[in-house]
Amino acid sequence: MATLLYVAHVLCAVVWVGGMVFAMAVLRPAAHEALEGPQRLAMMAAVFRRFFRLLWHVVPILILSGWAMLFGWYWGFGASIWHVHVMHATGLAMAAIFAFVALVPWRRMRAALEAGDRPAAAAALDTIRKGVLVNMVIGLATVAVAAWGRFGG
Ligand code: HEM
Repeated sequence: MATLLYVAHVLCAVVWVGGMVFAMAVLRPAAHEALEGPQRLAMMAAVFRRFFRLLWHVVPILILSGWAMLFGWYWGFGASIWHVHVMHATGLAMAAIFAFVALVPWRRMRAALEAGDRPAAAAALDTIRKGVLVNMVIGLATVAVAAWGRFGG
């Protein structure tokens, strides 16, 4: 059971952080290169609709599996596992940023697109981009800390 939780946890981290790296480092610059403003907005909306829907499932599994390991395996906050304590804090911060992005600017972007208000949609998309970028940096640092803490001492 512990192994299953561990595998689920790491897979969720891969999907979340890998998805953000792909969106920020590959998809967004490619969309700027290949598409005009209106098509770019439509495509990024279609991309984030799917990605955020996926993350509403992946993020809870990541956090619940992390808690299950922390409390069921390491017996909670007292254990001297500095990398897990750092991961716990950054993981909760990332989840809060995700919830904000998916509930505030993403809703604003959809409403603006429905109303045909492209400047408002572009402004909301820029806020989404900043949130995803911050989470990508924290996510990469979290994976580095997690791996370092486990094997680097
Ligand atoms: C509520 C938040 C989280 C908790 C309580 C948590 C807890 C844990 C625990 C207990 C382990 C096993 C550690 C070990 O045996 O050494 C682990 C592993 C791991 N976690 Fe998390 N985690 C959380 C969030 C995250 C997030 C947000 C990421 C990635 C962005 C992440 C990535 C990883 C990775 C890559 C491992 C495997 C490396 C390792 O075992 O140290 N975790 N996590």
